[in-house]
Amino acid sequence: MFMLRGGLIVSDYDDLVREINGCEKCELSRDRQNAVPGEGSLDAEIMFIGEGPGRYEDRDGRPFVGPAGHLLDEMLAAIGLKRHDVYIANMLKCRPPRNRDPLPSELDSCTPYLDRQIEIISPSVIVCLGRFSFSNFFPNETISKARGRPRRWRDIVVFPMYHPAAALHNPKLKPAIQKDFESLPGLIERVKQAAAKAQVPDPPDPAKQLSMFD
Ligand code: URA
Repeated sequence: MFMLRGGLIVSDYDDLVREINGCEKCELSRDRQNAVPGEGSLDAEIMFIGEGPGRYEDRDGRPFVGPAGHLLDEMLAAIGLKRHDVYIANMLKCRPPRNRDPLPSELDSCTPYLDRQIEIISPSVIVCLGRFSFSNFFPNETISKARGRPRRWRDIVVFPMYHPAAALHNPKLKPAIQKDFESLPGLIERVKQAAAKAQVPDPPDPAKQLSMFD
């Protein structure tokens, strides 16, 4: 964890991290070296959500510190961001054996932790890295069709992208991930402008201001 916000938020967050680190709700807790709660700024406007820890994350207790994490860092740097500017979490907080896909029962056990992270951090934009993260918000859609197009989920803009590990396995996907990353600063700006306009008394038509994400 890097930067903290005052008061209740910090203690809620600390409680949550403690719970995750002690969690035994599913079998994944048995073989972990470390749970991986997540890290970054609690004031972050952007929250990245991946799938689950791999070998290096399990070793260090930190998200995205292996090869996929290096690519994530590289792409963040390309748009002028560092890890401490954003918040990074995963669907699962413990590593599945041999990095297999998360089981529905594991996702069910772990998602309440993610829900609390989203509530505490309250990001304007959630970037879903890969299909498991995207399905948490839009269960019946495919990432390949949805990627690169922002949409609304509650009062948050969700932006689906391929998982960086997908680009490591299939380099043909890298340009798509790079393009999606490059569109992030513009998206954040548009979200900020829409929020600022929504605060002006008597906006002409607030529904229209949100419609750009439909
Ligand atoms: N892949 C993920 O989805 N999350 C990590 O933390 C690392 C690799």
